[in-house]
Amino acid sequence: MRIVVTGGAGFIGSNLAKHFDKKGDEVLVIDIFRNSDRFSNGNLKSFGHYKNLLGFEGEILEGDINDKATLKKIKKFRPDTIFHQAAISDTTVSEQDLLIRTNLNSFSHLIEIAKDLNSKLIYASSAATYGNAKSPQTVGECESPRNVYGFSKLMMDKLAFKFFKKLHIIGFRYFNVYGSGEYFKDKTASMVLQFGLQILSGKAPKLFEGSDKIKRDFVYIKDIVLGNELALNAKKSGIYNLATGKARSFQNIADILQRELGTNLGSEYIKNPFVKQYQFHTQANILDTKTDLGYEPKFSLEDGIKDYISEINRIYESEVNG
Ligand SMILES: NC(=O)c1ccc[n+]([C@@H]2O[C@H](COP(=O)([O-])OP(=O)(O)OC[C@H]3O[C@@H](n4cnc5c(N)ncnc54)[C@H](O)[C@@H]3O)[C@@H](O)[C@H]2O)c1
Repeated sequence: MRIVVTGGAGFIGSNLAKHFDKKGDEVLVIDIFRNSDRFSNGNLKSFGHYKNLLGFEGEILEGDINDKATLKKIKKFRPDTIFHQAAISDTTVSEQDLLIRTNLNSFSHLIEIAKDLNSKLIYASSAATYGNAKSPQTVGECESPRNVYGFSKLMMDKLAFKFFKKLHIIGFRYFNVYGSGEYFKDKTASMVLQFGLQILSGKAPKLFEGSDKIKRDFVYIKDIVLGNELALNAKKSGIYNLATGKARSFQNIADILQRELGTNLGSEYIKNPFVKQYQFHTQANILDTKTDLGYEPKFSLEDGIKDYISEINRIYESEVNG
């Protein structure tokens, strides 16, 4: 199989690229990679990092999906499947122009390519499409994005819907993903990693006030790869939640980590500065994902953290202290 992974130097994209590369597929990674440019929120404009691709044997192309030249090269590769992960993934970015162009408009160009080549298109949407809707969140029932990022993903889904009959197109609303490859997302990396690194440095993990009641559906990267792989054999196009179907609190994460790391540092509580655009409770309805794609999440929060802990230790040793 010939596969293009856009955003392939990022967290989820690099996991997909390495997975299919190992299976013997021909994989082309497209990514803008990072430089020192920052958004007005102080965060980097892109998080792609070469270290996420160490061990990857396929092709790598530095390119911006907003550029025609990059799109041309994707087309020239003639992919059987495009895993589209490239995006401004930072939910706190307020530059609406670049966000809409990158997340939404470039997607429509990829749809055109998929149509021309008859390629499968499997893309990343987000639980941010639901905003603060009541749990469990179900596709098509309660979308109400609270920021421009969530809006861009919802509009991607609406666009994809128009091509369901003409294309093999699957959109995944990822919930909160954690696991290997996320370190280079800096402050936007999952709280599993951020609490883990705080604990390893001997500090109490810093949680928002009321964190025992702030719950999310935390999903491990290996279940995300599984879902994407199952999407290749989907019998019909669709938009699906990709998650565990369980809501767990941020306090749960801190407590499980302390158990795994053998510490007893307690917790420090701070005010939540994002209250207005924050998701206080997410829990995916994954019934359709199970029925239509045969998806069954393999990692509870406990299992995911257990699987991830040696990598968190490695990051602390070689990236934070190295
Ligand atoms: N990680 C999560 O919890 C989560 C949750 C919901 C949805 N998502 C979505 O999943 C996808 C992957 O997210 P991630 O966590 O791996 O984020 P990430 O930021 O690590 O990956 C995105 C990649 O896209 C690249 N990119 C950005 N703009 C680009 C452009 N114009 N051209 C080419 N490449 C560009 C970045 O360099 C980065 O490597 C994104 O679409 C994101 O919105 C992620």
